[in-house]
Amino acid sequence: MKSFALLGALAGAALAQSTAPAWGQCGGEGWTGPTTCVSGYVCTASNQWYSQCIPGTAAPTTTRATLTTSTRTSSVPNPTGFRHFGVDESVAEFAYDIYPGTWGVHFRFPEPSAIQTLISEGMNTFRVAFRMERMAVGSLTDNFDAAYLRNLTETVNFITSRGAYAVIDPHNYGRYKGAIITDTNAFASFWTKLATAFRSNPRVIWDTNNEYNTMPQQLVFDLNQAAINAIRRAGATTQPIWVEGNSWTGAWTWVEINDNLKGLTDPNNNLVYQMHQYLDSDGSGTHPECVSTTIGAERIRAATGWLRQNGKQGVIGEYAGGPNPTCRTAISGMLEYMRQNSDVWQGALWWAAGPWWGDYMYSYEPPSGSAYTYYNSIMRQYAAR
Ligand SMILES: *[C@@H]1O[C@H](CO)[C@@H](O)[C@H](O)[C@H]1NC(C)=O
Repeated sequence: MKSFALLGALAGAALAQSTAPAWGQCGGEGWTGPTTCVSGYVCTASNQWYSQCIPGTAAPTTTRATLTTSTRTSSVPNPTGFRHFGVDESVAEFAYDIYPGTWGVHFRFPEPSAIQTLISEGMNTFRVAFRMERMAVGSLTDNFDAAYLRNLTETVNFITSRGAYAVIDPHNYGRYKGAIITDTNAFASFWTKLATAFRSNPRVIWDTNNEYNTMPQQLVFDLNQAAINAIRRAGATTQPIWVEGNSWTGAWTWVEINDNLKGLTDPNNNLVYQMHQYLDSDGSGTHPECVSTTIGAERIRAATGWLRQNGKQGVIGEYAGGPNPTCRTAISGMLEYMRQNSDVWQGALWWAAGPWWGDYMYSYEPPSGSAYTYYNSIMRQYAAR
């Protein structure tokens, strides 16, 4: 996710207040609403583009639903032509520059009951974001924090035990504690531990890192290749690896920016190129308006050609539009175009679900997220089973 913003009406409501409400937005690049929070809450950056009011001194107000086990292990079938259709689960990476942060205050893990709802509606793939700084707390090569790994594992197991896929997403933009990762050996060491932790789960998918950006193109290649090698050497040979590109892995700029990534090699020949695409004017995902009703298909057309020409597979790992008719047509147009080109597109994941999104315009969290209530009828056509 490159950027965030609230829907105009909601931002307007926030502007009318001098302080932001509990869990409300209170900052981020381009934010013009309140920057202070109601009593008991403190404004904390989730990332560069989004700050949120979280409990300041109060005890955590959230509780984690009890995980239940399921004996169901069969795959969730999807007859629409997409292998992967689902959402990003975003919350374990919140308060991205607070290390390691406090569970229940700065971050938590996705809500199992919401995931269950989406699975029952036919979604079969969930990209679970987390922060590398909370897993390897002191330095990139540190042993993993047992509690954070256990909580991530619970989320992943909840998803995969129900027959869906869990994409393991170090949501780090190619950076660790704010600095671009240049040590490919340290990056590989992190990946060896992560792959070892999940290698026996056949429904896991590896995502090398979220949205490399503003860094040397060769380094993006080298980090991806180091992750691939580490994962396979750790004995995780059957699961796909989703690689990402530079410039926030944008589909619309993929061919100009990321052509060199066609040279990545996988001894198990199971790479998928994960691209992201937003449909607002600057492709940042900060505006509720989409450029036009046809912008979705248009923005991924060149990348579609690149995938086919190079014999590669692709997936849209993040996309979204505001809840309005122009975006609605643009989103369904993009999905329809992808379905027609499902020889190269494996599917698409909406940004984003998660229990802390509040009134965020793209929230796909059941039962009342803005995008969930607006787009659910469209999504069910692709997720139907
Ligand atoms: C893990 O989750 C439990 C609740 O299930 C919570 O008490 C604990 O603080 C969490 N720890 C981390 C590091 O996420």
